[in-house]
Amino acid sequence: TTAQIGVTGLAVMGRNLARNFARNGYSVAVHNRTAAKTRSLVEDFGDEGTFVPAESAEEFVAALERPRRLVVMVKAGGPTDAVIDEFAPLLEEGDVIIDGGNAHFEDTRRREKALRERGLHFVGAGISGGEEGALHGPSIMPGGPPEAYEALRPLLESIAAKAPDGVPCTTHIGPDGAGHFVKMVHNGIEYADMQLIGEAYELLRDVGGYAPAEIAGIFRRWNEGRLDSYLIEITAEVLSHTDAETGKPFVDVVLDRAEQKGTGRWTVQTALDLGVPVSGIAEAVFARSLSGHAELREAGAGLPGPNAPALDAADAEQFADQVEQALYASKLVSYAQGWNMIQKASEEYDWDIAPGAVAAIWRAGCIIRAAFLDRVRNAFAADPGLPTLLADAEFAKEIGEAQSAWRSAVATATHRGVAVPGFAAALSYYDALRAGRLPAALTQAQRDYFGAHTYRRTDREGVFHTLWGEDRREVGAD
Ligand code: 6PG
Repeated sequence: TTAQIGVTGLAVMGRNLARNFARNGYSVAVHNRTAAKTRSLVEDFGDEGTFVPAESAEEFVAALERPRRLVVMVKAGGPTDAVIDEFAPLLEEGDVIIDGGNAHFEDTRRREKALRERGLHFVGAGISGGEEGALHGPSIMPGGPPEAYEALRPLLESIAAKAPDGVPCTTHIGPDGAGHFVKMVHNGIEYADMQLIGEAYELLRDVGGYAPAEIAGIFRRWNEGRLDSYLIEITAEVLSHTDAETGKPFVDVVLDRAEQKGTGRWTVQTALDLGVPVSGIAEAVFARSLSGHAELREAGAGLPGPNAPALDAADAEQFADQVEQALYASKLVSYAQGWNMIQKASEEYDWDIAPGAVAAIWRAGCIIRAAFLDRVRNAFAADPGLPTLLADAEFAKEIGEAQSAWRSAVATATHRGVAVPGFAAALSYYDALRAGRLPAALTQAQRDYFGAHTYRRTDREGVFHTLWGEDRREVGAD
């Protein structure tokens, strides 16, 4: 038997992806370093479609029809290189290796180049949606040569999630590392969304005085409006869950130290390198980091703060509405920042990424899926060169309408001593964008004072330096 596609690496993501291909009528060669996993996949799910189990790499490659398409689903980093090194010598010109892991886009660029030189196609594909997505329809972000995408298109389109209008959530993102880059930014935005939701929860609980089950109800209501999204939906589910052992709200028995596998951190590191301000995503990564520093938190636990009782019921209701507006406005800022990064990288690496197409394939399947993304898509459809999402007429109007409540929510949080790094950073970003002049003028003057780093003037061209230590005469410094 020949198989139309192969999956190697049968941990839960790989297994579910293989099943998804099989359920969609494709014959799938399956392979794993330890053959037991391959056998159990076929034993447990063999009736879902056609699987061709292979014990060795040679057997696996031989089972694939040409051009061979093999999906690698192993841990990002060393294991991916090891699998490529094992399979590449067995492949022939025109065959396609797809890396569906959360690889760093620079690794993908390196691998794509190396394999291209050997006549092989390498497609670094970001895949979002967790285990369930892999099985029922993920959002797929493939990068690499366009001709390799063409060889994959029907398969990817059939296993991908479908947006509400029926369009599959996959598209060719761009060459080499573009797919993994976009997946990385997806995760950065995911971090920001989660942090903002956390801040909203904290405010409703500590300031609003609501119990977790009541907050679940508030999130459910929000989920029917403009915040309608998977992450808001699961937040309500989590908050309404009771711990079986203690009878307490589940959220109260979970240790409050958030972990991270690294994609959020990569997003911020890369943003710094590209010179793109992504303060919302950065605050989300730092907030996770802070939560994990037990020793810092213990040392800080006794420090003074304000002491204010929760609001009474009528005020709490009004406050909840402010929090919704703060959450929405802050979310808009994070998305604007994320897209700035995509647009900057697209220029830098010559990827020619269509910003609206990215929004389109995030509408379903992925972790940040949301009704909102349809509107992001429309904003870029109206103006593909939009410098920031905040300048889109509709979003600008919404953020303008939300700003007063947003400020109140941040002010209340500050007065009451609740940390809202995401809300506050987003608001500061908004205010900085709005401001005609920034104190950066003073920064430049200081730099010139202590280091003769020079400055430009508002009223004429050129580069200048003031002789601060002498008679403060201004000299040209071109
Ligand atoms: C997705 C998720 C997925 C994974 C994250 C979790 O899009 O399906 O983003 O990739 O769940 O890597 O990341 P952290 O462990 O860093 O929170």
